[in-house]
Amino acid sequence: MEPTSYLRCFILLFSSLFLIILLRSWFPSHGADFHLDCSQYSSWCTTSKNRIQSKFNVSSSTTEKNTTKHKPIDDHFADTPKHPLDPLTLQEINKVQSILTIYPPFFTPNFPSIHTLSLHEPEKSTVLEWKKGDILPHRQAQVIAFLNSHSHVLVVDLDEDKVISHGIDPASGYPMISGEETTIATDVAQANEEFRRIVVSRGVKLSDLVCYALATGWYGPNEEGKRVTKVQCYSKQGTSNFFMRPIEGLTVTVDLEKKEVVKISHTGNDIPVAQAKNTEYQHSAQNKLTSNMIPINPISMEQPLGPSFSIDGHLVRWANWEFHLNPDPRAGVIISQAKVRDPETGKLRSVMYRGFASELFVPYMDPSEGWYFKTYMDAGEYGMGLTAMSLVPLNDCPHNAHYMDGIFSASDGKPFVQSNMICVFERYAGEIGWRHSQTADSSSGRPEIRESRPKVSLVVRTASTVGNYDYIIDWEFQADGLIRVQVGLSGMLMVKGTHYENANQIPEGDNMSGPFVSEHLIGVVHDHFITFHLDMDIDAPDNSFIKVHLVKEEPPPGESPRRSYLKTKKHVAKSEKDAQIKFKLFDPSEFHVINPSKKSKIGNPSGYKIVPAGNAASLLNQNDPPQQRGAFTNNQIWVTPYNRSEQWAGGLLVYQGKGEDTLAIWSERDRLIENKDIVVWYTLGFHHIPCQEDFPIMPTVSSSFALKPANFFNSNPILHVAPTVPNDLPTCSVASTSS
Ligand SMILES: *[C@@H]1O[C@H](CO)[C@@H](O)[C@H](O)[C@H]1NC(C)=O
Ligand SMILES: *[C@@H]1O[C@H](CO)[C@@H](O)[C@H](O)[C@H]1NC(C)=O
Ligand SMILES: *[C@@H]1O[C@H](CO)[C@@H](O)[C@H](O)[C@H]1NC(C)=O
Ligand SMILES: *[C@@H]1O[C@H](CO)[C@@H](O)[C@H](O)[C@H]1NC(C)=O
Repeated sequence: MEPTSYLRCFILLFSSLFLIILLRSWFPSHGADFHLDCSQYSSWCTTSKNRIQSKFNVSSSTTEKNTTKHKPIDDHFADTPKHPLDPLTLQEINKVQSILTIYPPFFTPNFPSIHTLSLHEPEKSTVLEWKKGDILPHRQAQVIAFLNSHSHVLVVDLDEDKVISHGIDPASGYPMISGEETTIATDVAQANEEFRRIVVSRGVKLSDLVCYALATGWYGPNEEGKRVTKVQCYSKQGTSNFFMRPIEGLTVTVDLEKKEVVKISHTGNDIPVAQAKNTEYQHSAQNKLTSNMIPINPISMEQPLGPSFSIDGHLVRWANWEFHLNPDPRAGVIISQAKVRDPETGKLRSVMYRGFASELFVPYMDPSEGWYFKTYMDAGEYGMGLTAMSLVPLNDCPHNAHYMDGIFSASDGKPFVQSNMICVFERYAGEIGWRHSQTADSSSGRPEIRESRPKVSLVVRTASTVGNYDYIIDWEFQADGLIRVQVGLSGMLMVKGTHYENANQIPEGDNMSGPFVSEHLIGVVHDHFITFHLDMDIDAPDNSFIKVHLVKEEPPPGESPRRSYLKTKKHVAKSEKDAQIKFKLFDPSEFHVINPSKKSKIGNPSGYKIVPAGNAASLLNQNDPPQQRGAFTNNQIWVTPYNRSEQWAGGLLVYQGKGEDTLAIWSERDRLIENKDIVVWYTLGFHHIPCQEDFPIMPTVSSSFALKPANFFNSNPILHVAPTVPNDLPTCSVASTSS
């Protein structure tokens, strides 16, 4: 069999007119004409029979750009929760808002600003006991609000119509910054006479200003006692990519409550604002539309019988997987109750109770006045869901994707729809699930065998744009039981202005804080850490964490020609400190989560292992203020006993927090973790040393880790999957004629 024959059909070059029009507009210099002949599934070739009603009727829309703006609120008035972990609906958020309006401490004019309003997760035992058809446990909302210099953390019960708990200033930090506050801060800065004078002196027109309110971190008592932000500005003159045109060295500290300027710092006097030339990234705005590259023909994965997954409310079913999917203002996406069906018994088995990006830590490596504070915590300071904008069909997510909205609350407590912020799609990337071949041998009568299976997976994706940066977070489920969590980084560098125009002007020994990437710009070196909360429940909540250490042994002289070999030694972590893991290339271990009470057919405990890929550790001093706040990155793995209050690795209130409520503090209690309901925390890190190719927009850089079954199944769980044969696919032949 010709190996490419079913591949060619599987990845079908689909003839929908829109796609060709679209792609031809991208590659206008290409003169080929397509003709696609589908002798089979001809009806399907024009209408896709997706079981899931796609949000966009892509094939009928003439331009992709207009599909993201519809009337989203209308779609959600009738939503009702069906599962204990379903996010708050639009009606529920409205109800919380009205309960808060009549809550005496918040009587007019004392209504606070609402910074997070989301489901208050029911007790885990309640969720685990709940079955479809049961009435839902009380629906509750957690509200983080700010009023008169105080942070308020409330729980509102929607069934009892009242506030059931109310904490004031539980820790040092503040709630995340809201869109409204960002506007206040930039308006306050731009209204300041001194600021305006400086801007003009830097050659930037006030009408060209774009300003950002940056989280300030915490740097000691001088910066305490008021909620502040630091405003920095760019020039948008001549480009949509204003991030490449910083007004270097100009920082305005704004008190968000008093709505006044606290300090203006201006150290960039003689540093020019970089040019607009070659900074555009929008296709429509670029003046050079050809890339001197052979254009790639339209490409798409097609599913003649529709997708194989279904989404019922927020419950996703695909192949052997079932899980709950929850858009979240802070985490972006929460995966809950991930269960996989055992191929032998047909029963669903629990793998993970809850998994999400708990906190991000992004320290920049420049100690100067305008830069030292840039040590962001993107989940707790900005919100990975609040910053997850609508995904771009066909580009962010493939043709066969289904989209999901998030419903969040604005500062006034009223709901809004973050439309199409999650996509779910099946991926066939031409990979192999498993294979083997053997040659024929006529003398022994051994036949030739070539046996292989394509690898198809299900991906849940969000892309959060936190200021200049874009984080693409994928949860990928494979039929062999593996879950891969991948983080992709794209967007704009945070660049720093410099006098230099050419590398030959830079003197030997100049201690610039990053590589020179374009005229008058350097890309400041920085790190990204993304810490995931992974509440593993392998077959049941009570699990143990095992280090499978690889140790070198040396056989006694004369016993073997070998001088060394590796052997595994298992160690069961007893308490939290025993499970604070730093990765070591020359002293390696595997890390398993097992259920000691659940044994396989041959007696091994059921388990999953945590499989790292490329990673990076934080190298900052432990006493550096940002590292105290980001102490959850001190180890790559931590294990804590389950505690409903310990969800956010950097603490509940991160903005200007001092770091006294982090995972590192919790773990110091050294609680017992053997055969207990445990949570694994994994930190995926990147050191980013920029280069010219990151300008004006960065090609995506990705890394990942996996949760992989280890003695969970009795044997290969995809052994009985049938191979794909040509008849499974439409037989389309592609003719290409040059015109
Ligand atoms: C998409 O098309 C289907 C079938 O033609 C129609 O029922 C549905 O209303 C359309 N949806 C949108 C969002 O236009
Ligand atoms: C989007 O739709 C609006 C009105 O429906 C239209 O005026 C505008 O030109 C469209 N934009 C594009 C890019 O097609
Ligand atoms: C190196 O950095 C220090 C501290 O930021 C600064 O004071 C000094 O001028 C820099 N030296 C050069 C050669 O740029
Ligand atoms: C649960 O977490 C909170 C916050 O860290 C802590 O105050 C409490 O003591 C913890 N409970 C247990 C049983 O560890």
